[in-house]
Amino acid sequence: MLEELSDHIMDVAMNSVRAGARHVSVSVQSDAAKDRLTIAISDDGVGMAEDTLKNVVDPFYSTKVGKKVGLGIPLLKGAAEMCDGKFNIQSTPGKGTEIEATFVLHHPDLPPLGDVKETMFLLSVSNPEIRFCFRYDVNGKEFLLDTGEVRDILGGVPLNHPEVVAYLRRYVAGNG
Ligand SMILES: Nc1ncnc2c1ncn2[C@@H]1O[C@H](COP(=O)(O)OP(=O)(O)OP(=O)(O)O)[C@@H](O)[C@H]1O
Ligand SMILES: [Mg+2]
Repeated sequence: MLEELSDHIMDVAMNSVRAGARHVSVSVQSDAAKDRLTIAISDDGVGMAEDTLKNVVDPFYSTKVGKKVGLGIPLLKGAAEMCDGKFNIQSTPGKGTEIEATFVLHHPDLPPLGDVKETMFLLSVSNPEIRFCFRYDVNGKEFLLDTGEVRDILGGVPLNHPEVVAYLRRYVAGNG
């Protein structure tokens, strides 16, 4: 089992990166009033044919070369279902993929969330050519990061330039 939900987010977002996405949206919403945690990740990558889509929830399915098991999706689905939540995946070849996992917030088996903003930071700076739109919402208090907007401001300076990385680190830490 992955230990924290942020590890699941990293894994599923990296699937989007490997799928050749140019634009990836990651939304994490924690709502105490609704007793619900929702993780949604969507991309404009290669997508999956219906056949593949049926197989992705199977741990023994992977298209990674030399790999016989693919655990990213089955583990997230398993975690959501263990917490009386739901898992939904939709995909269209040539268009992209959307994944949504929900969890009952007070469920005793809910894994720790982990450092969601750190995960968002790491995804941004390790994939500087991809536009990430992040939203982290805790009871209506939102943290937003659109790396496309940052890139526009930067002109030609890459998102993994050391000074930009330092700026993003401060921003993500909440005092940028
Ligand atoms: N966003 C996506 N776009 C296109 N194909 C995807 C996407 N996510 C998953 N897939 C396909 O589903 C397969 C299974 O994904 P999963 O994350 O479960 O395992 P994996 O990435 O192959 O291996 P692991 O996550 O264990 O390193 C992938 O190999 C890939 O073919
Ligand atoms: Mg994976």
